[in-house]
Amino acid sequence: MNTISVAAERTYNVTLDCSWEAQLPHQRELVFLVPESLRNIAGDSLKDFDLIFLPDGENQKTITNYAGVLEELAKRNLGRDGVLVGLGGGATTDLTGFVAATYLRGIDWIAVPTTVAGMVDAAIGGKTGINLQAGKNLAGAFHSPISVLIDYTWLKTLPQRDINAGLAEAVKCGFIADPTILELFQSNVEANIKQIVSRAVSVKANVVSQDFKESFHREILNYGHTLGHAIEWDSGYELRHGEAISIGMVYAAALSAKYSNLPGDVVTLHQEILQSLELPITYSSGAWSRLYEAMLVDKKARNNQVRFVLLESIGSCRRGEGISEEELRKIYLEMIGE
Ligand SMILES: NC(=O)c1ccc[n+]([C@@H]2O[C@H](COP(=O)([O-])OP(=O)(O)OC[C@H]3O[C@@H](n4cnc5c(N)ncnc54)[C@H](O)[C@@H]3O)[C@@H](O)[C@H]2O)c1
Repeated sequence: MNTISVAAERTYNVTLDCSWEAQLPHQRELVFLVPESLRNIAGDSLKDFDLIFLPDGENQKTITNYAGVLEELAKRNLGRDGVLVGLGGGATTDLTGFVAATYLRGIDWIAVPTTVAGMVDAAIGGKTGINLQAGKNLAGAFHSPISVLIDYTWLKTLPQRDINAGLAEAVKCGFIADPTILELFQSNVEANIKQIVSRAVSVKANVVSQDFKESFHREILNYGHTLGHAIEWDSGYELRHGEAISIGMVYAAALSAKYSNLPGDVVTLHQEILQSLELPITYSSGAWSRLYEAMLVDKKARNNQVRFVLLESIGSCRRGEGISEEELRKIYLEMIGE
């Protein structure tokens, strides 16, 4: 067991390699939010707790479900000193954090992430939220948990596709901040997974602790996300977030080679590591105009210009703006071999 501290609006610990139940504050009133899909997987471990079951995946991040959970908490008379426990993937911890941010104007919550994406990304950093019909994560709040409990036994039942998609964010952490993560990916991923997750959590915790509410430093976490978000949307969410980010990182690396002198061997390293995880690194050539439009309406675009995080070398990032649509398209088509 080890802990990593995150300094945000409050300081809290991420406890890794723990047994999640043992780490709960049992003296406080706890209400769990859990997706239906985990009911059987979690089995007996939940039998002594007060539970609210949720729809699966993004269906739990709707206004309707959010409102229903608030009403249910009020019906159960959960007081200000109560604690919500979000046990599930990133969708569950996003919803739980947002409910906790708003119920009685804010109560404590604990994240128990059960997916790699949740462990290395969604549960860390205090961003919580739900989706609107107009788009993903459009309503939300910064509201950090009081603790994050990472228990690797959850990963035994997680499908390999979800493990690999979650690891895409850890690959990102390697390129933007911690080359040791890349070495771990180049040896035996299965044997190194605890170390990979732990180092990725450290990267995110460090970045968030320096810049909780997103000025440039936190923006480096968006490496690969400009094109990645557009692809995720364009695929109708058929691609997992991490799969779309994988393609986005290969594109960001190609842009970085052109505009930030990123050496060619680092561009190749992106492709090698992501492909070794069976993550996609290419997308359809006909999609470009839709992707470009989607990048323009992204929350991060400014003054009708698409913004990228570029890599200068492993561990060193800078912002890339003002690249013409023609150039962006050319590099996209080169990336996919057209
Ligand atoms: N707040 C943030 O900073 C942040 C960052 C990244 C992603 N996110 C959000 O996280 C979500 C994606 O996270 P995700 O990939 O974990 O999705 P998810 O929560 O939808 O979980 C994916 C699937 O895995 C199942 N599952 C969860 N744990 C399991 C286990 N141990 N064994 C078997 N199945 C299990 C779930 O029921 C679900 O069907 C998105 O909503 C995204 O917006 C938030």
